[in-house]
Amino acid sequence: MNGSYSYTPGETDVPISKGLVSIRNLSKKQIESLLDESDRMLSFCRRKDKLDNLGNKIMATLFYEPSTRTRLSFESAMQRLGGGVIGFSDPRSSSVMKGESLADTIRIVSSYSDVIVIRHPEHGAAVEALRNSTVPVINAGDGIGEHPTQTILDLFTIGKEKKKVSGLNIAIIGDLKNGRTTHSLSYALSLFGNSLTFISPKELAMPDDIVAGLKSEFGTDMQISDSINDAKDADVIYMTRMQKERFTGKEDAEAGMPYYNINAKFVSESRNNVIIMHPLPRLAELSPEIDSLPNSVYFKQASYGVPVRMAILDAVLNANASNA
Ligand code: CP
Repeated sequence: MNGSYSYTPGETDVPISKGLVSIRNLSKKQIESLLDESDRMLSFCRRKDKLDNLGNKIMATLFYEPSTRTRLSFESAMQRLGGGVIGFSDPRSSSVMKGESLADTIRIVSSYSDVIVIRHPEHGAAVEALRNSTVPVINAGDGIGEHPTQTILDLFTIGKEKKKVSGLNIAIIGDLKNGRTTHSLSYALSLFGNSLTFISPKELAMPDDIVAGLKSEFGTDMQISDSINDAKDADVIYMTRMQKERFTGKEDAEAGMPYYNINAKFVSESRNNVIIMHPLPRLAELSPEIDSLPNSVYFKQASYGVPVRMAILDAVLNANASNA
């Protein structure tokens, strides 16, 4: 499936009490507050504390697409906050297989739960879910659209490693056309005043409307390149995989081969204190030989998924309770 649900820009403009369907839902101040709260949650996680903030709440995870990190870190986060979890990780085990629409599934599941976390192959599916839900909706990835909770954990990682989330030179590499993590991240990095270098095969470049939007909204300093060597001066390298499952034609498939690759030689030729990030899963674009380098923070980045999603769930559900 590579379709989309259409929506108007205003439909993503919802308060956090309604959920998080786009990174645009959040102001700079709200993101800063989530980063602070994530740090507090990280301390609880390190002490293996179990909190009871959401003891009376149920989270439904509706994953129409595969996931390891996002689904399991959301479920771990909810359980660490004392809440319950229901849902499916494979739509083939649900009535989707009998032809049930997304709208009807959401109507039903929102009567069984207090928050819905949805991953779906179609762009706009989180907005379609929001339209039909009586509980907040969190976008865990909608096709080639966005992945806003990944962005919060990416910013959290940058903040932990660089002690700041602004004024950095950040190279974002890979399939930028289809990579939803890079779409949400580019917006947030621009909001915080970073310089961006987009590196991809020309056929898989960052969509023109996103580049134009960042330029007009933030005046972001951006370079566009197809050479990975242009990442060697970056403070942060954000590598992504080719999204073969979203390739629609021969051109895309050819552009995706061969992969960009970061190996030990590349890191030695880059800035001393560069950090290498990746939303994972990785394929051949990160050589395992760099895993043990201090520059490689992608496994630490993935581990932050739990405290960051604890902070997000708490913010969404407590905002909802205070507005009730
Ligand atoms: N980063 C990320 O979204 O990973 P998963 O696909 O495993 O959830």
